[in-house]
Amino acid sequence: MFAAQTIDSTDKPTFYRELATQLKALLDGESDSVANAANTSALIFQMVPDLNWAGFYFLASDEELVLGPFQGKPACVRIAVGKGVCGTAIDLEMSMLVKDVHEFEGHIACDAASRSELVVLLRDDQGVFGLIDLDSPTPGRFDKDDQAGIEALAAIYVAASAFED
Ligand code: SME
Repeated sequence: MFAAQTIDSTDKPTFYRELATQLKALLDGESDSVANAANTSALIFQMVPDLNWAGFYFLASDEELVLGPFQGKPACVRIAVGKGVCGTAIDLEMSMLVKDVHEFEGHIACDAASRSELVVLLRDDQGVFGLIDLDSPTPGRFDKDDQAGIEALAAIYVAASAFED
């Protein structure tokens, strides 16, 4: 049984380094991409403070994202590329740090409690194929340290998992 160890979250870089170590241990020896996405979202939701949603979206085509494993309230299943924070991240091929979702034109509210959002991309040799999305009920919850930390977790998830072409 894997038991996540509580980590002091005062120093974010240290927090995310330790969380990365726990994620590697959690995914060790398993390459199923759905199982790994499920456990990655569960670990993030359990360990990262002040979240109301954490999960995956995968590109179903060049035009559309589809919901993957997540923790939190039921969410929008399909998001068009270019729409919302998630679709914009894919369109621009970059992580998105949104301090106040009410200020983001076109934000898609899956949970009315969400006030800030962080989206990081999943990439392999073929390019971007999905993303990890975090929502918080606190405005300004995420900063560059959270972005770097979650990007590192996304890379661990991609490296551990096998994907169909
Ligand atoms: N807020 C996102 C939609 C996904 S949910 O937050 C889970 C967006 O604007 O793309």
